[in-house]
Amino acid sequence: MYNLLKGKRGIIFGALDENSIAWKTAERVHEEGGQFVLTNAPIAMRMGKINELAEKTGAQVIPADATNMDDLQNLVTKAVEILGGKLDFVLHSIGMSVNVRKNIPYTESNYDFYAKGWDVSALSFHKVCQALHKNDAMNEWGSIVALTYIAAQRTFPDYNDMADNKAYLESIARSFGYFYGKDKHVRINTISQSPTPTTAGQGVKGFDGFITYAELMSPLGNATADDCANYVVTLFSDLTRKVTMQNLYHDGGFSNVGVTPEVIAHMSK
Ligand SMILES: NC(=O)c1ccc[n+]([C@@H]2O[C@H](COP(=O)([O-])OP(=O)(O)OC[C@H]3O[C@@H](n4cnc5c(N)ncnc54)[C@H](O)[C@@H]3O)[C@@H](O)[C@H]2O)c1
Repeated sequence: MYNLLKGKRGIIFGALDENSIAWKTAERVHEEGGQFVLTNAPIAMRMGKINELAEKTGAQVIPADATNMDDLQNLVTKAVEILGGKLDFVLHSIGMSVNVRKNIPYTESNYDFYAKGWDVSALSFHKVCQALHKNDAMNEWGSIVALTYIAAQRTFPDYNDMADNKAYLESIARSFGYFYGKDKHVRINTISQSPTPTTAGQGVKGFDGFITYAELMSPLGNATADDCANYVVTLFSDLTRKVTMQNLYHDGGFSNVGVTPEVIAHMSK
């Protein structure tokens, strides 16, 4: 390991189980010398295994619903207290759509469900950034990262209203990134990750076909959750200090490929 995050402090949202992108990231950040507080929605604490991860990485756990400003205020204040100083990195690894969960087609979206999914998956990113900004909780040149998917740019029909939520999330990274960059040199980016077999990923209809298609379309193959954790570490490190307001594809090349012989072979069978 390279000690890329030695002396750095942060918050990691969204580690539900060992498949979660946030879980893998917490393990890698720990290996690189970073210290952090783990957080998730109170309900996920009961279902998930976050305490196992906390023990492994020497982290404390503070529950917070990322849609609730009081919870976020409490989280940010306590994290700075526990870690003994301002923060250098924050991972937002949160997503949920009630319409997807209930198999409601996009054209028949229920708007209460739509609003709930938008609040959890997109607006929560603004809320996290605002809680950090208002409390002046980030060190200069700190780094905030959220996870997204290419359905924000191109239509993947079964991704449903999550496509709209991801487009909104990416826009927040640009807008908040501008202000936080000007004020405090804090950078904000989104990583557009390959399909990954996690609880959230597997909630998407036809996920198995989806991930195989992406694999055949990507010259480097799909990026795994472990690959993603490595990429997040680079964005938290001092080696990427001038990268901000970007949506960064981490997908083995998928986003720039039109078709591959492997996919054509599949179609010709
Ligand atoms: N899995 C994929 O194929 C894939 C691809 C691209 C992007 N992403 C994104 O990666 C991120 C992480 O998802 P994952 O694939 O690791 O799945 P995951 O199911 O392991 O993680 C999703 C997390 O969101 C948390 N969450 C839900 N509601 C919350 C709330 N109100 N407050 C706080 N936390 C809440 C869940 O408890 C869970 O820990 C999501 O933004 C997802 O959209 C996933």
